[in-house]
Amino acid sequence: MKQVNIAILGCGTVGTGVARLLLQNGDIIRERIGCTLNLKYVADIDTQKERGLALPPGVMIPDAAVAIADPTVDIVVETIGGEGIAKQLILDAIGKGKHVVTANKALLAKHGNAIVAAATEQGVDLAYEASVGGCMPIIKTVRESLVGNRICAMIGILNGTCNYILSKITDEGLVFETALAEAQAKGYAETDPTLDVEGQDAAHKLAILSALAFGMKINFDDVYIEGISRITPMDIEFAAQFGYRIKLLAITKFDGRAVEARVHPTMIPFDNMLSNVNGTLNAVSVSADAVGEILLYGHGAGMMPTASAVVSDLADIARNLASDGAGRVPVMGFQPAEIRTIAVMPMDDIVTHYYFRFDAMDRPGVLATIAGILGKYAISLKYVHQKGRKTNGSVPVVMLTHHAREADVIRALAEIGALDVVASTPMLIRIEDDNGQE
Ligand code: NDP
Ligand code: HSE
Repeated sequence: MKQVNIAILGCGTVGTGVARLLLQNGDIIRERIGCTLNLKYVADIDTQKERGLALPPGVMIPDAAVAIADPTVDIVVETIGGEGIAKQLILDAIGKGKHVVTANKALLAKHGNAIVAAATEQGVDLAYEASVGGCMPIIKTVRESLVGNRICAMIGILNGTCNYILSKITDEGLVFETALAEAQAKGYAETDPTLDVEGQDAAHKLAILSALAFGMKINFDDVYIEGISRITPMDIEFAAQFGYRIKLLAITKFDGRAVEARVHPTMIPFDNMLSNVNGTLNAVSVSADAVGEILLYGHGAGMMPTASAVVSDLADIARNLASDGAGRVPVMGFQPAEIRTIAVMPMDDIVTHYYFRFDAMDRPGVLATIAGILGKYAISLKYVHQKGRKTNGSVPVVMLTHHAREADVIRALAEIGALDVVASTPMLIRIEDDNGQE
């Protein structure tokens, strides 16, 4: 039986999981794909660390370059992370004609176009299922299963750390810092957790998904990014009173002219399935012309779920090797010549529903002043709510709007925030209602 030789570069959380899965489930993988995924090398700078892996002698090595230089290695798995050495090793491996699997969404979001171009030129496969949504097969779904569809939107909970934090604050009243520390202890957060809580990690993933869905170049720089660090328990409580939960959503939509690509805290109705995706779980809904809507749900990170996605890529490439089919599925789901630059809609042009919270002085006429400014910018209110008096004289005033344009909202809030009767920077949370209300 044929054997495909694999080198894993970086034996941390994900690399260890991949090695473990190949050792533990090698038999069933072989039964399914008809060849052996042979773990030839595991390269990590620390070869002595106890990882609970029973690797045969000679497999663990300190120098990734040795694995790349070995002509018998067919597939290189990059699980080091970051944009430095990982990028160089991937390009070196591609240059040597090796197929590459990576879980590195930050690298793909920022340097993906160059890496894809290198792989395409070399005629090697580049697979990255684990880079978005952990074990959820979203890349395969978009690249292969939905090939007959025009995709119009994808909306996802793509960061487990943020979802864990928001769920813990909402359901257990935990404070932000405690919830973040718990997510870190579970191994979900990035090495630099600001990438999670400030939304960049979800934006990396969204940039990859937008490109795949709409046949465009990866465009991370134009993704609008807002994290969850400003969300307060008070906003979560108000959201619940109006029938919403707050989630960090990654949203991409295409109307045939421009693409929306934005990551921000969003209120979604209780009856939207995404509002019930809690803890570290991820989910993504895809809307497309033939299927309507589908939803994928599962662990977006963690050792073994992420390893499962990497191994699915390894199996695909091994099957391609067996049938001389490298490049059978184009790296970005479209033929390279068909990939276009599509404009990302400026955030100013987004039209949606909004939640505002103002800390306003409890004085006659204040509400009328705020409403007047909103009216001046053509922002129509659906609901206004003022809660009891605070000791310092300000009270939270909460408003929900009908459809409004982001540019108008930003200008209006800047004007309201500058009023001396408004005590702090106004809070704005976008609402994603799919019931077609104005
Ligand atoms: P880890 O930090 O746990 O693992 C990275 C490993 O690579 C470490 O053991 C590190 O050693 C080692 N390493 C660093 N430099 C080199 C080098 N030059 N040669 C060989 N090994 C090296 O990261 P994760 O496993 O968590 O993440 C890996 C990638 O997968 C990242 O891109 C991440 O974003 C992505 N990912 C992670 C998920 C998760 O659940 N953790 C989920 C989905 C994607 P040392 O520690 O000594 O620096
Ligand atoms: N830090 C990421 C998360 C890991 O919290 O979802 C998976 O990409």
